[in-house]
Order: sequence, then structure tokens, then C-alpha cells
Amino acid sequence: MNKSNESRRFTVTAALPYANGPLHIGHIAGCYLPADIYVRYLRRTGADVLFICGSDEHGVPITLRAEQEGTSPREVVDRYHGILKEAFSALNISFDYYHRTSSELHHHTARDFFLQLIEKGELTVHTTEEFYDESVGRFLADRYIVGTCPTCGYENAYGDQCEKCGRSLSPAELIHPRSRLSGSIPVRRPTRHWYMDLGRHQDTWLKSWILSKTEFWKSNVLGQCLSWMGEGDNHLRPRAVTRDLDWGVPVPAHLEGSQGKVLYVWFEAPIGYISATKAFFEEVRLGHIAKPPWVSGSRWEDYWKMEGQSKLVHFIGKDNIVFHCLIFPAMLKAAGDYILPWQVPANEFLNLEGQKISTSRNYAVWVHEYLSEMPGRVDELRYVLAAGMPEQRDNNFVWKYDGTDNTTDSYQARVNKELVANLGNFINRVVMLTHKFFDAKIPDPGPNQFPERQLEVKATVHAIGEALEQFRFRDALGSLMKLSAWGNRFLQIHEPWKIIHTQNERAAAVLYEAAQLAVALGMLCEPFMPNTSEKICRMLGVQKRDWRWDTIAQHELVPPGIQIPAPAILFRKVEDHEIIPQIQKLQAMQNPDIMDKKPSSSPSPTSSGHHFISIEEFKKLRLIVARILKAERIPKADKLLKLTLDIGDDQRTVLSGIAEHYGPEEVEGRLVVLVENLAPRIMRGFESQGMILMADGPEGRPVFIEPTGPTKPGSPVS
Ligand code: 2FM
Ligand code: ZN
Repeated sequence: MNKSNESRRFTVTAALPYANGPLHIGHIAGCYLPADIYVRYLRRTGADVLFICGSDEHGVPITLRAEQEGTSPREVVDRYHGILKEAFSALNISFDYYHRTSSELHHHTARDFFLQLIEKGELTVHTTEEFYDESVGRFLADRYIVGTCPTCGYENAYGDQCEKCGRSLSPAELIHPRSRLSGSIPVRRPTRHWYMDLGRHQDTWLKSWILSKTEFWKSNVLGQCLSWMGEGDNHLRPRAVTRDLDWGVPVPAHLEGSQGKVLYVWFEAPIGYISATKAFFEEVRLGHIAKPPWVSGSRWEDYWKMEGQSKLVHFIGKDNIVFHCLIFPAMLKAAGDYILPWQVPANEFLNLEGQKISTSRNYAVWVHEYLSEMPGRVDELRYVLAAGMPEQRDNNFVWKYDGTDNTTDSYQARVNKELVANLGNFINRVVMLTHKFFDAKIPDPGPNQFPERQLEVKATVHAIGEALEQFRFRDALGSLMKLSAWGNRFLQIHEPWKIIHTQNERAAAVLYEAAQLAVALGMLCEPFMPNTSEKICRMLGVQKRDWRWDTIAQHELVPPGIQIPAPAILFRKVEDHEIIPQIQKLQAMQNPDIMDKKPSSSPSPTSSGHHFISIEEFKKLRLIVARILKAERIPKADKLLKLTLDIGDDQRTVLSGIAEHYGPEEVEGRLVVLVENLAPRIMRGFESQGMILMADGPEGRPVFIEPTGPTKPGSPVS
């Protein structure tokens, strides 16, 4: 561990989440949890650290959501800013300040930064032809354009990416581009924008700066940077830092051609870290917030300018690497006098039950849902996500332990076998034994000594510290749990409950040591599980919470004679019935037949969707009348009915997720509406060849859409 902790200063940022949707566990494991663990640890070492974040409130994701919901961007960001802030606070992510980029202070800061770059000759103006929707009178951002993917032929590929085959696209590559706003065919129009020449930075210092990080940065981060800065086509090109949009930080009005233009969201969002720091000190100055004891600087410059010599650490997910390792550093360097990132410990992605987390498909474990459906289990989530953090490669979150080695890292196994059976068990044994044999008082150790206990703790204090300094969160947590396992073995070997009547002094010494170890565990687990830390300390009679990291290794953390409170439960086992609904929820998201019309990713009710499609798009749907000839249950698929449909001149098999609401006998003979040209899908070993339409009914029971007059199977619905 670093002995010069006193003088260490850190500016720690966590990626500003878009205020267009709630947080899921992938965000937490990838970015916010490691950041919080790191910062909590640093504070304990006496480092001067400022931890900042905020909502990213501009850009196309926000305006798109507003349009889909038929509301304003302001309404969207206000709603989600509150939701994000609440989720972070519930998870004990301990930002020193959580700001927002729609604030006036941020607008000023970003605008000034932009003007400073112009003044320094860093930005040049170029005219290009961009897509323009004449019917609504707007230039179209890439995401606002859809068309056919030139690679796979998917007809609804976005202007920046095909979601079917994953290819990155530019709108000009789309075949038959259409505007998502009106469905009309966009035209090309000239437009002027400000550009930053990143290639020049690459050649003069950026590449050698990145190379200077070779031994220090994670290989996944370096690899991405170097591939962006390759030769030829991969040489960094000038990037536009403005956009034609009406939501964002406006380009200063005095500049020629500024009308209708805002700063590109990826230009101004990282400046949000600086404005958050400014806002923090402003709020301290005004007395709105108290300056925490670990923040020793008094001006924002102390954390951003060279003279403050702070170490800048950006916690992000891997999709943000280019912006934090290349573009933002180039901006900081160009503006002059700013520190550059010292470390960018980007994580890979977390998958969920073997599949990619998908916001658009609502396939995720949402933080707000977890908090309400698994109440009182914040630290369990923090623990499981830290233990399986996707540090070097993508990792997989699984809910259930199936009794085999394949799922020992599942949520259920980690809680039951690690938190309950190891850490919880040790603490519980110490507390119970103290109550039972020593009148609920920490016993006096007497002459007997067990120096191995302090040695073990010392080694662990050091190991966790070293791992965290190097951003190896899983290793750090592993060391903590090893210490707890050591504690269990220590009790097992010395069996104080057996020797209590024959060797009372020795039993007292064993329990004294065990109590010291329990407190050490309580302190060491604070960066990972802050609630648990507090509970353990309280259970062992320790009230003061101002310990420093290296003092955890001292001989005595709780003196003999201290009275401890009545035993309390630290962790509860996770039973099958608690997690099966979680798994079923995810399975329902994979089932195309239950169409969840409300975006349940949103914790508050949303207004009805307002995303328009053209008549051409609608005509692509082939809807027909069909009759259910036969309905059968499918073994081990509680939700699905296998339906054989008469469609006039043929038959179809469709799997429908209605089995929880309808038995086979209730549906046979019914007329239904079938989406006839839906791409077939294999489910539970059967091919589902279409989808029947259902409407939301009372209490979540779907109801059939039926013809009310005479018609017959095969008749088109239009
Ligand atoms: O990827 C994202 O969610 C972005 N909103 C992250 C921005 S980080 C920073 F640059 F502000
Ligand atoms: Zn494609």
C-alpha cells in the first residue's frame, strides 16, 4: 500500500448516465459499483478525493424518447434525473456531487470551453451535405434515419447501426433511407459545422501519450485506443463537435452560422465532469452542502488544472473508451492547462442469463425493480456484482443455483454459499458465543495469544489495498472472503464452545481474537458492502466509524468489556420462490407472443407512445383471420400454448404465451387475428410461425382480438 497517502489527490468520475431510462445491473457492475468501491477505499486511506457524476441530459437518445412518448425533452430529463439519483442513492453509490448537463452552469462551462478551443485555433468550420426531412423542416441525426442494411437486408436498420447484424453504418450507406419523424424520404442539404482535427493530435502527442500507458492501463482499454489510432483508414479523422438539433447546449449566438446548432453531446457531456466539480464548490460556498472531510481542495481548479496535480480517474463501460481516452483528452490538452486522465479502468459488459442485456427489448434486471422486488438486499446485489465484475472480459449474471458447479457464481449461490454460509456465519458465531458464554461482553484475552489472527488481518488489509489500487475488484473481494473463511476455520480448530468449562481463559482468548477479526471484516467490507459494514460494527459494539485503512491491521479494534447488542441477522438465504419470478420475467421478455406494450423499463407511468410509422411500413404487416383448431400445453413451459391454426388454405403452428390465463379448452375453435409474416422462431423445440394479437385486459389477463361479424380463416385484416 502507498505510504504517501496523505498527499494523494484524486478526481474520480463515473460516466454520466443518459437521462432517458432507468439503470440496470450492467450499468452498476460496469461503472458505478467499481467507482464507488474505489472511492470508498481511497477515502479510508486518507486520500483527498472528489467523486462526481450527473445526468447526461442532451443528445438524440433523449429527444427520441421524448418523441416516442409524445412529450418534451425537458419532461423526460426531469423525470429520469430524479429516478437515476434515487437509484444511486438507494444503492449507496456515494457521489460527492451528482449534477446534470441541462443546468445553466453546465451550459456556460461547455460554451466557454468551446469558445476557448475556437480562440486557440483548434476548431475549423466545414460544410457537408446531411440528410434533411423537408416535411418537418429538420436535419436528421443518424438515429432519426432508418433504411435497409446493405449487409443483411434488414429493413429497419438505423442510420448509425444495424441492430440485426450489428454493423456500424453511416446514413448514406442505408438503402432506401426514410425519416423516422415523418416516414418521408430525406433529401441532402448542405450544413456548416465546427470540427476538431483529432488526427493532428494523434500525430503530435496523443498516440505517444497512450503508448506511455502501456504498462499501466488495462489491455482492453489500450487495445481499443490503438485500434482507433491505427494507420490509413484508422487514423483519427476530424470530428464535428456541433450538430443541427434544437435540444442541447446552443452554439454561442454571436458566431456566424450558429442558428439551430448545438454542441455535440459527446463534446459537452464529458465537460459535465468539470461543471459538476464547479457546482460542488459553488454549493459548498453557498452553504447548501457541507464539504466532506476527505475533500481538502477548495476550488474546482484544484481537481482539474495542472497546478492541483490531481489524478483523474474515469470509470466507464467499454463503449465509452474512445471518448474518454482519446477525444476528451484531446479536448483537455487543446484547451490547455488541464490534467489528463491518469487511469481509465473501463469494464467489459455484463450479460444476463446468457444473453445481452437489451434496453430496447426490456431484457434487463432494472435497479428500481430489484430494489422493490428484493427488498433489503442492496449489499447482496453489490456483492454479487462485484464478485462477478466484468473486469477483463464480458461476464454473465445468473439468478439461480442449480446445484452444479456451473452456477456457483449465480446470485443465489453467491448469497447462500458465500455471504450466508461464510461471512454471515462467522459473524453470527462470534456474536452468539459472546452472548452465550461471556455475558454479551467482549472477553478479556488474558495471557493466551494467537498472533496468527493479526498476521492474517494485516496480510488481508494489504492484499485488498493493493488489489484496489490496481483496480482488481474481484481479487480484492476474494481476499475479504478468504479472511472470513479463515475466521470460521479458526473457531472450528479451537472450538471455544467445547473448552469453555475446562479452559475458560483460553476460550476467552479465542473469542477475543475472533471478535477482533469480526470487526476487521466489518471495516474491510465497507467499500463493497457499506450497510453490512455498519451492521457488523454495530453488532460488535463498535460505534465510531472514522477508522483509517491501515489501522484495521492494529492489534485491538474492540476492547474487552464492551457490551454488544442482541444478535441480529446479517444475511438471509435466497429461496427459490424469491428468484423464480425474476427468471420468469426475463423469459417473458424473450417470448415474442406476449407483447408488453408499456415500456415497463420505466418506473413511472408513461404517456401513450407517439412514434409514427408510414402507411408503407404498416402495409408490410400481413394480418389475417385464423381459427384455433387445436391447443396443447407444452411440458416445462408454463406460459406457452402450442396452437394449430386454420388459415384458410393451410395450417400454421404458433406458440402463444397465454397458458397462464387460458386453458386449451377455452381457446379451441376461436377466431383470432394472426400476424402472418412474422419471421419464424424456434421456441422450446417448436417453430412458431407467426403471432396472434391480444389486447391488455383487466388484471394483466390478455384478451383475444376477434371478428364481430361473419368472416372466415384466411381473410385479410386491414
Ligand atoms: O454512454 C452513456 O451512457 C453516456 N451518457 C456516457 C457519457 S459519459 C461522459 F462523457 F459524460
Ligand atoms: Zn444488418
